[in-house]
Amino acid sequence: MTRAIKARQADHAIHPVFTRRWSARAMSGAPIPKDELMLLFEAARWAPSAYNNQPWRILYAQRDTPAWPTFFNLLVDFNKQWAQNAAALVLFISKRTFDHNGEPSYTHTYDTGAAWQNLALQGTMHGYVTRGMEGFDYELARYALQIPEAFRIEAMAAIGKPGRSEDLSPELLALESPTQRRQLASTVCEGKFRFD
Ligand SMILES: Cc1cc2nc3c(=O)[nH]c(=O)nc-3n(C[C@H](O)[C@H](O)[C@H](O)COP(=O)(O)O)c2cc1C
Repeated sequence: MTRAIKARQADHAIHPVFTRRWSARAMSGAPIPKDELMLLFEAARWAPSAYNNQPWRILYAQRDTPAWPTFFNLLVDFNKQWAQNAAALVLFISKRTFDHNGEPSYTHTYDTGAAWQNLALQGTMHGYVTRGMEGFDYELARYALQIPEAFRIEAMAAIGKPGRSEDLSPELLALESPTQRRQLASTVCEGKFRFD
């Protein structure tokens, strides 16, 4: 985590949790106690959503439990390399329609992204690393986890205790550094669209 603090300097005085959160692949293999995992899910629960519809649903498996192989086998080989040391794998899905009227929700994916970010930030605050993943078999996930079509499969994430980057393969070690961000001026503009 200290690497992230040094490498990621914000231009404005935001709370440090935003820059401290980074997606390390080095995870120790230590388990996550159930109550700590619930803490992360609780944070996700309080995300905002259109009409407070809370379209997110989260399926999960802890390591060394019967559900783990089903989740782990969804991952592409690249992700399996490092996610084998995660303590939990989670899958975010989101309901496409509103509960109150059955109409399509335009923002169910957006809302569920907020839930994922809440989970990731809570994880950072409790000494866990989280890494989102789109590298998995979406069709197999639907089939293996019996997810109805009414729910869009969004993304998976790995949660774990930080590990030693030296224990990663050379290929993964070469990728293991906190990312930067483009300048704020290239992300926000006052008034009309003026981006490159
Ligand atoms: C929805 C989503 C999908 C991602 N998919 C993968 C993935 O399949 N494998 C991987 O190693 N990292 C994956 N990442 C991690 C991103 O590469 C990482 O979040 C990004 O480079 C920004 O770095 P940071 O999270 O450390 O700030 C994913 C992240 C998100 C949010």
